[in-house]
Amino acid sequence: MNWEVPLFNLTLDAAEQEAVLAVMKSGWLTQGERVADFERTFAERLGSRFAIAVSSCTAGLHLVAHALGLGQSDEVILPSLSFVAAANVTVETGATPVFADVESFNRPLLDPVDVERKITDRTRAIIALHYAGHPCDMTALCEVAQCHNLHIIEDCAHAPLAEWDGRKVGTFGIAGVFSFFSNKNLATGEGGMIVTDDPALAQRLALLRSHGMTHPTLDRHKGHAFGYDVIEAGFNYRMDEMRAAIGLVQLNKLESNNERRAQCAARYCELLADLEWAEVPFLRQKSKGKRQKSKVESQKSKVKSPKSKVQGQRSVYHIFPIILGDDAPSRDRLMKALRDDRIQTSIHYRPIHDFTFYRQRYPTPDARLPITSALAPGLLTLPLYPTLTAEQQEKVVTSLARHKG
Ligand SMILES: Cc1ncc(COP(=O)(O)O)c(C=O)c1O
Repeated sequence: MNWEVPLFNLTLDAAEQEAVLAVMKSGWLTQGERVADFERTFAERLGSRFAIAVSSCTAGLHLVAHALGLGQSDEVILPSLSFVAAANVTVETGATPVFADVESFNRPLLDPVDVERKITDRTRAIIALHYAGHPCDMTALCEVAQCHNLHIIEDCAHAPLAEWDGRKVGTFGIAGVFSFFSNKNLATGEGGMIVTDDPALAQRLALLRSHGMTHPTLDRHKGHAFGYDVIEAGFNYRMDEMRAAIGLVQLNKLESNNERRAQCAARYCELLADLEWAEVPFLRQKSKGKRQKSKVESQKSKVKSPKSKVQGQRSVYHIFPIILGDDAPSRDRLMKALRDDRIQTSIHYRPIHDFTFYRQRYPTPDARLPITSALAPGLLTLPLYPTLTAEQQEKVVTSLARHKG
């Protein structure tokens, strides 16, 4: 499809090309010094003690869940409004995923109140997603986790350099896991990074990433070791040098790319101001009170204490979801109409509890996730990327407005 406005776009240029070429010329392709450099630089930028590069965010989440010893008798609480990786990884360890609701239409982020409600004697961990690049309420989630002696794993796939309370997300839980998949704010094709402040965990993750071997291939190549021992059953979740080289260049661009994303998000808000039938979560609620707060939302706002609405939040605008109201055209119709105008849209997300596998194996009635279930059918993601032009944004919004009714 020849999109005039694709959903996402890469920001690769000669700098990444040269970096990859340099790797090819170096004669060393698998995990080596560039990976180590990428890890050091990433940890520094995050303000984290350790960073462990992996082959994907999914591999990273798996590695952390495995290293924490999650297993058969355990439950893990996570949002249903998320990408399926965290739930799949939970299932793979033998633990049971327990889905929690999001806070509200305006903050579709894991709700600490509902998380607490869903804790049982078997709960061991919470996996929090910083959806769309917006930080979860980490103050409240950490309070809940501390109170019940639970681990927090942060799924930071959408949120490199996002901040809660002036601190980078990924540094609140026992570990934070990032994705460098092709459509992400920092893209290397495939790839991921785990950050943690726990030295024992970091050491174990590094070991498990490479078969549980005491010496990586590079050590032997350099003549620092002649063999290796295997001290634990691990995996091959390594990152290679080409990806690390791209990652280092992309990391240099991340701050300015995130800034451009924020500008585009602000511009969308202006352009969408007159579109009464669409809400912009995080950024714009219906001003004229057109959408009545749902009964669940009203009840929830009474339950929730305002304890942790703090300054210092920073979003990195990974995606731009809007929520279509009851008086909007059908989502299917809109997506097709926009496609005919050569504008690509997507859905983030169909809730995980609604997928066949999860419905059959871990049935969760919609009534247990009232806000997620109410908002998900209206979610529509508009194109967002650093090189999105003002003209492209106008085209998207004009096309949306034209297909009303
Ligand atoms: C929220 C979220 N978590 C995890 C992942 C998995 O990332 P990866 O493709 O790097 O395994 C993604 C990828 O799209 C994601 O969006």
